[in-house]
Amino acid sequence: MEKKTITTILNKKQLKEKVTMLTCYDYVMAKLISSQDIDILLVGDSLGNVKLGYENTLPVTVDDMIYHTKSVKKGNDGALLVTDMPFMSYEISVKDAVKNVARIIKEGGAEAVKIEGGIEVICQVKAIIDAKVPVMGHLGLTPQSINEFGGLKVQAKTQEACNKLISDADALQRAGVFAIVLEAVPEPFAKKVTERLKIPIIGIGAGRYCDGQVLVIDDMLGMFTDFTPKFVKKYANIGETIKTAVKNYIYDVKAEKFPQEENTYK
Ligand code: KIV
Repeated sequence: MEKKTITTILNKKQLKEKVTMLTCYDYVMAKLISSQDIDILLVGDSLGNVKLGYENTLPVTVDDMIYHTKSVKKGNDGALLVTDMPFMSYEISVKDAVKNVARIIKEGGAEAVKIEGGIEVICQVKAIIDAKVPVMGHLGLTPQSINEFGGLKVQAKTQEACNKLISDADALQRAGVFAIVLEAVPEPFAKKVTERLKIPIIGIGAGRYCDGQVLVIDDMLGMFTDFTPKFVKKYANIGETIKTAVKNYIYDVKAEKFPQEENTYK
C-alpha cells in the first residue's frame, strides 16, 4: 500500500477527502486492516478495555503500549501508525512526557503519538513536537478523565464547555498538532470546530461533518460487547461467528468428527 504520512493526512482536509482511522492492537489485525488502505492505525489505550479486560484505560502502561505497537508495526502495510500516550505518562512533567514518547517511538516503532487534553498539556505537546515527533490531539470525551467526568459522558453540553473546547482546539493547532480526535460531542458543535480549524478533525461520536472518523475495531466488528456506545456502527458480528466456530469445534472433537483423514499426517 502507498505509505501514509502526516502530510497525506493534512492534505486530505484541503482535498475534502475523509480521513479513515481504526484502532488496532496486534499483528494479524494490522495486516487485515491495512490491506484495505486505511489512513491511520491507532494503537489506542482502549486496549485496556478490549484486550486487557480492565474497567477503563487508567491502568494501561507505557510498556503495554510499546508491546502492542511493536505487534501492529510488523503487520502494518502503509498506514500512519499512531500510538496513545497512556494515563500519567505525560501529565507529571514535560521531561517525563518526552522520555516516554522516546520509548514509544524507539522501542515500539510508532510514527506519531496521541495525547488527551488541551491547554493543560500544551507544554508537553510543544516539547514533543520540538523533539520531532508528530502529535495528534484528543478532545471532548477523553476517557483518561473518567473520574473527573464521573463516567463516559457526552461533552460540550454547556456554552462554557464549548468555549473551553474551542480554546483547547485553537491552542493545540497553534502548538502544531497535525490532527485532533473529537469524541462524544453534539454534531453541530463538531461541525463548528471542523470548519474553524485548518487541521483535520477526526470524529468518534461527533457526527457527520468531521474531516474523518475513527472507531474501536473490536466495537465495529462486534467482538467487544461489555458496553457499546450509541455512536458505534457494527459492521460485522465476529463475536457470534467465533462462538459458533468454537461450539462446532467442541462438538466435532467430542463426536470424533475432527480430525479427519485430511487433517492427519500419513
Ligand atoms: O484509545 C482509543 O481507542 C481512542 C479512540 C477511541 C480514539 O482514543
